Amino acid sequence: MKIVKTIAELRSTLAGPRANGARIGFVPTMGYLHRGHISLVEISKQHSDYQVMSIFVNRIQFNDPKDFETYPVDLKRDFDMAEAAGVDAVFLPDDAEMYRAQRTFVDIELLTNHLCGAHRPGHFRGVYTVVCKLFNIVQPDVSVFGQKDIQQAITIERMVADLNIPVRIIIAPIVREPDGLAMSSRNKHLGAEVRERAVVISRSLRRAEELIAQGVRSAGDITASMREIIESGGPSAIDYISMVRYDDLQPVDRLEDPSVIAVASFFGSTRLIDNMIINKTNGGYACIW
Ligand code: PAJ
Repeated sequence: MKIVKTIAELRSTLAGPRANGARIGFVPTMGYLHRGHISLVEISKQHSDYQVMSIFVNRIQFNDPKDFETYPVDLKRDFDMAEAAGVDAVFLPDDAEMYRAQRTFVDIELLTNHLCGAHRPGHFRGVYTVVCKLFNIVQPDVSVFGQKDIQQAITIERMVADLNIPVRIIIAPIVREPDGLAMSSRNKHLGAEVRERAVVISRSLRRAEELIAQGVRSAGDITASMREIIESGGPSAIDYISMVRYDDLQPVDRLEDPSVIAVASFFGSTRLIDNMIINKTNGGYACIW
């Protein structure tokens, strides 16, 4: 596995495989890898021949400077995990390589006015800007994003369509801990006692699934029931529990096809997110979470 720190070196590294007709798969990350990240590589391998992973803690997407400063880093472990997963090249730029007096930023209208976009000012502008730059640097054929960050995944699909970026976006399932907590690099910050209580987030999604199966369609009824479950775990704050339309991420009063139910809540000082996608099927609705 090659570890490449500059854009020029990455371009020359990719020139060979590309000339040989290899399709390039790309998984962007901020490192501190876990099985969720690795699952994206596994999926990328099913659709492409040469795997690039970027590891870059992108300062401009952190609306909270403390979150940036405490973002966990363990490159040695990351390299071992990436290599074992079959990554061919890790792109590991530093701040100066990515941002030289950046004056151009990418933003997406409407789809960011709700959910995390409403609670993390500037966050998505930082995400779209770095992902757009990374797409231009790597020029992948395929790029895989996790459903875990559903607003990010759906809006990046929109960005590549709107800006005619020739890459296929794949959205990968959420990888969870045995008790249901969605894996996240930030879970490291949860103390043992708080970690146990955080299980209420996935439990609230299970409850939503049960209610939908029973025929409940009202967003208010479903989210109120979820709120009760999350509050029973003593969160330090709940940012949102919301049902939105999949396509434009706008709130809906009643379940539509397809929809997303998304949650963001603080446990201790750690902000955790989770969600489910709801699709109509023959007999009713399928909840993917
Ligand atoms: P990061 O949080 O490191 O996540 C990298 C990718 O892993 C994202 O696509 C995310 O959705 C996915 N992921 C995280 N946890 C997951 C889980 N439990 N199951 C499945 N996939 C999971 O998201 C970012 O970095 C950044 O915003 C980035 C896109 C790299 C831009 O800086």
